[in-house]
Amino acid sequence: MKWVIGNWKMNLGLGESEVLAQATAHLAEELPGISVGIAPPTPFLYPIHDKLKFRPTNFFIASQTLSSFAKGAYTGDVAAFQLKGVVSHVIIGHSERRKWHHDSELIANQIRQALACDIKPIVCFGEAKRDASVSSILFADLRADLGDLTPDEISRCVFAYEPVWAISTNAGAVPATPAYIIKVVSRVQEFFASTYNHTPPILYGGSVNEDNVEEIAAIKQISGALVGGASLQIKSFSTICRAFTH
Ligand code: PGA
Repeated sequence: MKWVIGNWKMNLGLGESEVLAQATAHLAEELPGISVGIAPPTPFLYPIHDKLKFRPTNFFIASQTLSSFAKGAYTGDVAAFQLKGVVSHVIIGHSERRKWHHDSELIANQIRQALACDIKPIVCFGEAKRDASVSSILFADLRADLGDLTPDEISRCVFAYEPVWAISTNAGAVPATPAYIIKVVSRVQEFFASTYNHTPPILYGGSVNEDNVEEIAAIKQISGALVGGASLQIKSFSTICRAFTH
């Protein structure tokens, strides 16, 4: 099963979010062979969950982040137990969270909090600069992010390889080439197999759009896509989702 997840980031107001959520749920209904998710802005998670009249089983709502703490005096944080029942998935460690909120220190605890409430983590990782020795950088980063998480905990996560230089809103962004993605994702899979005796699904994210999705969807090593800008319009998101059905 392939996954395509729309990360809406801090875009869209409530009305537009509700309309796009409903349109995306209908899109998912047409594509039962893949799993389609949306990650709306936090204040709209509950209204979307509440108002969505129609929700096929292959459609899910994700939070864009969550607290690394269980409960208590953490102003502005949202705890896993508060998200439970509203979302089934959560994006953890997105490069924008790492950059603006220093989330890199929190990843392992965020994963633990999500798993404790049966929320599936979608854990992002990716190098800041295009680099030939990228796998050794990523292995060190992943080791630091995942800390002492157990193979069982890792086996309950989905991962998303998002090279920071390929994210569409970053200056000079270019999508990673299929050859580059295959090289990196294959090595990361080897890292997971040797370290955790498990190879998790790995999605690709970074400037996935209507023009390049066919060649990205053809990459056997990836299990889907995490899509930012192109998930904000149902037309482009639909083209991207459909590409992952064949
Ligand atoms: P993009 O964003 O598709 O706009 O590059 C991807 C992401 O940041 O998850």
